[in-house]
Amino acid sequence: MQKTLVLLKPDALQRGLVGEIISRLEGKGLKIVALKMLHMDEELAKRHYQIHKDKSFFQDLVKHITSAPIIAAIFEGENAVDVVRRTMGETDPALALPGTIRGDLALDIGRNLIHGSDSEQTAEEEIDIFFSEEEIFHYSREIERWITES
Ligand code: RTP
Ligand code: MG
Repeated sequence: MQKTLVLLKPDALQRGLVGEIISRLEGKGLKIVALKMLHMDEELAKRHYQIHKDKSFFQDLVKHITSAPIIAAIFEGENAVDVVRRTMGETDPALALPGTIRGDLALDIGRNLIHGSDSEQTAEEEIDIFFSEEEIFHYSREIERWITES
């Protein structure tokens, strides 16, 4: 089953939206297999966002993500990577459709509440950055057959 990394960014915690955001992903049927709270340091932030290191917004991005605690989680499910991205909505909340997390709850591209891995490959790399094997749970849920047919 596919896994993806989700980060609830500092703005999500500061605004008291952790429960709401996790609830949307859980409600979709995705399973939480790892969850923790941490305060990212600059080194971790630069590693996580290295793909954007030459972009104009890189410094602001690192500054924001390291400004206060975050929640890191792994969600598992069929097509979890794409499902989380669609549930999050477009990067710019002003363009994100209503019904999505960013579309309903955010306004500004620099305060878009949530990160989700953008491919299966990226998900594997990002999960390795944030979680050790021992922190990832393997368990079944009785409800699974009511969420996924096969
Ligand atoms: P994320 O990596 O945080 O899940 O967001 P994303 O895939 O939707 O967007 P990405 O292109 O990877 O950009 C990473 C984060 O950088 C900030 N950003 N600012 N000012 C700008 O033009 C700009 N573009 C991107 C956003 O906070 C975005 O989430
Ligand atoms: Mg991204």
